[in-house]
Amino acid sequence: MYFVANWKMYGSLSSLNSLNKVIKFSKSKDIKKGRLIYCPPFTLIDAFSKKFKNCQIGIGGQNCHEDDDYGPYTGSINSRMLKNIGAQFVIIGHSENRAEGETDKVINLKIKSALKSKLKVIFCIGETLKEKKQKKTKSTLSKQIHFGLKNIKNKANIFIAYEPVWSIGSGVIPTHKDLFETIKFIKNKFRDKPQRVLYGGSVNPKNIINLKKVNNLDGFLVGGASQSAKKFIDIVKKTYS
Ligand code: PGA
Repeated sequence: MYFVANWKMYGSLSSLNSLNKVIKFSKSKDIKKGRLIYCPPFTLIDAFSKKFKNCQIGIGGQNCHEDDDYGPYTGSINSRMLKNIGAQFVIIGHSENRAEGETDKVINLKIKSALKSKLKVIFCIGETLKEKKQKKTKSTLSKQIHFGLKNIKNKANIFIAYEPVWSIGSGVIPTHKDLFETIKFIKNKFRDKPQRVLYGGSVNPKNIINLKKVNNLDGFLVGGASQSAKKFIDIVKKTYS
């Protein structure tokens, strides 16, 4: 199982101390190597990767520009820069960025640039509440997968993160049945090679007890709760207990 911590626009240098607990935990026998991944804001990637130097915790960015080459894009960071600073992963297509106007086409370019820079991609998809109510979950996910992964043959370095938009930060999670069915639907789209699919949206140390019973999941993308080392560790521990 993979556990990805998405810190969003939170965290400062003083947050580094809170990682000590996680580093210690990552070396314990409870957790298989390389299964914890932190995605802090760009400003902390360098400090985090230095901090994680002697342990197996992965590190990633939360977005990147679609051009993997340098260019005149004020305020942007590309996949090459992320790789250069020590990242191995990048989150792409998060609904908070889609809501700012990021299209499937741009997401597709970003994923291609990240793969070119040898980053592993955490590709977020998910339906809005309106789409869910209109029973458009499957058609939304199909469209996001189709256009987001267009002309990408080798998907071995792509993790899909199913994050229903209505679940992010709301405390509401899908029912066991709905989540199992949706993950199955997503996995069935990748018939030739099995694709890893994570769930994200309000994952916390309480609901993980139910979420872990959805046995076709390969891990979790954790937002709010991941800012607390204790909660993040609890989520991992409870998944395995
Ligand atoms: P949340 O965020 O866990 O705070 O709902 C998840 C995410 O946006 O990746």
